[in-house]
Amino acid sequence: MDPLSPYPGLRPFDVDESHLFFGREEQTDELLQRLHATHFLGVVGPSGCGKSSLVRAGMIAALSAGFMVAAGARWQFAIMRPESRPMHGLAKALVEQTVIGSDEADKEIATGFLDATLRRGPLGVVEALRDTPLPADTNLLILVDQFEEIFRFEREGGSDEADAFVSLLLETARQREVPVYVVITMRSDFFGDCAIFEGLPEALNESQYLTPRLTREQRQAAIVGPARVFGGDVAPDLVNRLLNQMGTDPDQLPLMQHLLMRMWTWRFPPQAGADGLGTADRAIEPRGAGRELTLADCDAVGGLDHALSRHADEAFESLDDRQKSIAETLFRILSERAPGNRDIRRPTPAGEVAELAGASLDELVAVVEAFRAPGRSFIVPAFPEPIGPERVLDITHESLIRQWQRLRDWAEEEEKSAEDYRFLAQSASLWQRGGECAVAVTQFGDGARLAEPAAADRVVGETLWRRFRAGDDLPCGERKGEGGARGRDGGQAVVRNPSLADGLRIGLRAGALAPSRRVDFLRGQLRRARPVL
Ligand SMILES: Nc1ncnc2c1ncn2[C@@H]1O[C@H](COP(=O)(O)OP(=O)(O)OP(=O)(O)O)[C@@H](O)[C@H]1O
Ligand SMILES: [Mg+2]
Repeated sequence: MDPLSPYPGLRPFDVDESHLFFGREEQTDELLQRLHATHFLGVVGPSGCGKSSLVRAGMIAALSAGFMVAAGARWQFAIMRPESRPMHGLAKALVEQTVIGSDEADKEIATGFLDATLRRGPLGVVEALRDTPLPADTNLLILVDQFEEIFRFEREGGSDEADAFVSLLLETARQREVPVYVVITMRSDFFGDCAIFEGLPEALNESQYLTPRLTREQRQAAIVGPARVFGGDVAPDLVNRLLNQMGTDPDQLPLMQHLLMRMWTWRFPPQAGADGLGTADRAIEPRGAGRELTLADCDAVGGLDHALSRHADEAFESLDDRQKSIAETLFRILSERAPGNRDIRRPTPAGEVAELAGASLDELVAVVEAFRAPGRSFIVPAFPEPIGPERVLDITHESLIRQWQRLRDWAEEEEKSAEDYRFLAQSASLWQRGGECAVAVTQFGDGARLAEPAAADRVVGETLWRRFRAGDDLPCGERKGEGGARGRDGGQAVVRNPSLADGLRIGLRAGALAPSRRVDFLRGQLRRARPVL
């Protein structure tokens, strides 16, 4: 738990924070009833409505306290996210958090063995529990948080593993040989995608929970309760203003949490230098010694509408130019626009981010520190967990993508560059095959004696690299690992597939336009040429 503040900020409440978690008592009871009946539960709702918090600080805490009477109070929990290796992630969670694998001293070896067992079939968890049984009268709950990550994994070439992972979850919940329960949390805008997995729609039809918004009274408890646990309070006029300002937009809950955390760490700062507060804040001296948050605190940090964007900007502005460029690449990589215009996080290992940013791991970590200093939780893992090349970095909450203006602009540019790349790749392929579509590329190529490779990189940089890694949209049979292109600093776009390379060269090489106009011109050409296809 964060000792600095009674409010978690953008991140969800954790299992050990139930004493700070208010407003969800009734809903926790409902979750327990459903879980008891079916052993499987899908907790769904819009982005940021509080699913992960409800399951962690509400349901899991209640199970540990024995509130599911029929099942007893002995529980083990394996909590995971699919990220980019769902089966491995599940094996790791089971080995690190439960009895499974406990007879093996080396946890990595145990994870490897369990990973292999889980892949053998949908009853892999049951088999593992036959080898290492749970202690008497003990239940196991597997929580797959942010289940929607499985859809990207599936799309990007992991479809066999995604199928196996989902059947494993469903079969584990269905069997009754061992007392295992499965809970997933998922953004409701991914509901339609569930049909790609056999049995998942049926399981969700049978047992799902649509997370309601907090009522005004519940929000009031969520604002005031944590401060009181910390021996403080929130002034009634501030509570009223927050309640009145919070509309129906689901980002309001993370915005409110961030604002409360921001006010608290600003008003009651920890020792100098360790709080992550910027110099702008230092200029405004907090008034009064009481531990009560007031309207003045709210105004000082920017209020509900601006606190988050200002706070993130401050972290960004604390960087030098090179670090700013690394930060931009970092956030472009960690965010993504999924089909249907949905902004989502894209958790990525630090080593990979550093490579794409053309930076050393140390340089990258220095930038990450600016965004995860205590009191500034924009990126996880939280400070001070060490970051090695394998450690997955993630944006703390998707609302940051929507509410931090700078990041919203980057996300939009990134999406445009993805579109441009898709067009380039397609044109290159069609041009190489000749025939009816050659005109499109000829037109594009003629007009596009326009950009030097460096400018091309600016347009297609990160995205080009990503597409190659993912192996999607590649019409020339390129697959993961076979092709590669350097990002922003790498100069020329290098593509191993000769046909694609030729097409790209036609489109991107040597032109006479002023650098400032190249990118726009290239885009314009692309757009004009597109209808010809
Ligand atoms: N009961 C609550 N009281 C106050 N704040 C809450 C409550 N539940 C969640 N929050 C805050 O709302 C934000 C979103 O919470 P959480 O991550 O649990 O939502 P989510 O629905 O899982 O989001 P996502 O769709 O991104 O997975 C966080 O800032 C969290 O601290
Ligand atoms: Mg969540």
